[in-house]
Order: sequence, then structure tokens, then C-alpha cells
Amino acid sequence: MTTAEKTQRTVSFISQGQAAMDGDGVRLTRIIGTPQLDMLDPFLMLDCFESDNPDDYIGGFPSHPHRGFETVTYLLAGRMRHQDSVGNNGVIEPGGVQWMTAGKGIIHSEMPEQENGLLKGFQLWVNLPASDKMTAPSYQEFTPSEMALEDTNDDCRIRVISGKTNKGTLGPVINNYVNPTYLDVELNAKHEFFQDTNEEHNAFVYVIEGDIQIGDKQLSVNTLAILSRAEQLAVKAVSNSRFLFIAARPLNEPVARSGPFVMNTHEQLVQAYNDFRSNNF
Ligand code: CO
Repeated sequence: MTTAEKTQRTVSFISQGQAAMDGDGVRLTRIIGTPQLDMLDPFLMLDCFESDNPDDYIGGFPSHPHRGFETVTYLLAGRMRHQDSVGNNGVIEPGGVQWMTAGKGIIHSEMPEQENGLLKGFQLWVNLPASDKMTAPSYQEFTPSEMALEDTNDDCRIRVISGKTNKGTLGPVINNYVNPTYLDVELNAKHEFFQDTNEEHNAFVYVIEGDIQIGDKQLSVNTLAILSRAEQLAVKAVSNSRFLFIAARPLNEPVARSGPFVMNTHEQLVQAYNDFRSNNF
């Protein structure tokens, strides 16, 4: 199906991210939130953790606070146990997602629920509008079987976490703050994937496996491609491939960030640290 009348998103920036360490010695690749790419409004950070060496992940992410934004954990392999200050406790499995709205404050931990084997997944930080930064903390959590899977044919399989595909498959995560689209797409060699997009939304693709082509740019595994603003994304698979497509409405608000807190002003950051220290979350 050609949709030549729609404007096409092209690749405007490419990055391989950089090696980083976070939590208690977890080795990861920071893809957004680096000196080269501070943020892509409203996305503040994207980390990919992938290792079959327990030394790289076993320390996990012990108890730490967040305020002012959302954290989205999506696992591809392994298991992670999460626990928090408002009484939630559960295990995220491969293909499962946890979309946590930290809002005015939450203290949580995310620990590998395994002692060996591959652990692979992503954590995305999504900013909240100024008007909702102090909302009550909440969760949207979905097991692999609760996720929307679109199996258009054997050539394209889409796991829909949030937003809607061109065939109308709706993801389970509802988010009216920035109306995100979060798709995990498997595309066989030589096939094409089309996704209509809101022209106003910022969007990127991250290649998990194989090689893909967007416009005249070929992208290899572990590459982030930020996309220009247009009405549609067309991806051609050069080889059997898998990639994330993530888009959302930019907030266009001032960002003041420090460690686990993301607010609009320096004064609000100081307040966040004070509230955390005095157990006022
Ligand atoms: Co966290």
C-alpha cells in the first residue's frame, strides 16, 4: 500500500548511545540523556540493559526516589522484581511492561529476579506536564499475555504498548499527559511497515535486531534514529529486524533535572530533595 500523499518522516539524528552505569553497578547503554542527546521532549532518558553476565546486572536498582515524571520498563528477556513505597510489588516478565507515574513522589526498587542468564530491556523516562508533576503516584502494569499483539501476517508482528497501529490495534497503556505511541515491531526482510503519526509529535526508532531503512538512511542494530516531524513513518526491513517506535507530544516547558527528580525550576528541585529527606513524599 502506498500512501504517497502523506508527508514522510526522515532521519534527522543518529546515535549509538554510550556505555553507562546506574543503580548498584548495572552496566547499560544510555541512548537518550547523554551529552550528545540531552533529551527529546518529552523523553528524558532511554536506557538499554543487555547482558548475560550476572556481574553486569545483579546489583539491580535498589530503593530510590522519583518525582515529576514517568518511568517505563519494558523487558525483552529475564525477569525484574519491583517494589515501592505505596505497597506495590510484582515481577515484570519478558514482553511485559510497567508504566509508572511517579508524580509527586515514589520510592521504589527494581531488582533482577534471576541469578544468571540474559537480562535485556529498556527503561524510558517520560516527562509530565507542569500541571501534573505533583499528581498522585500510579501504575499501569501489563503481563505479556495482556499486551496487544498485532500479527498482520508472518511478515510483521507488532506488540502495542501504547497508541494505535494503522490497522487499529490499541495498546493497553492509557496516557493523556503526552499521548504516547510505543510499538515493538518485528519485520521480516524486504517487507515494509507504515505508521501514521501525529505531525506535532516527537518520535524516534531504536533498532533491536537486524538492519532497517528509513528514507535513504540505513540503520543497523543498536542505533537510535530521531525522526523529522511528518504525517507518516515508513520502514523497510533490509534483513529480518526488530525495532521500537516511540512518539509523543512535546511539552515545550522548562526542564530542571537532578538525579531522580525532574521538575520545571531549580526551587522545585530543592523542594523535592527536602521533601525526600523529610519523608514528605
Ligand atoms: Co526508578
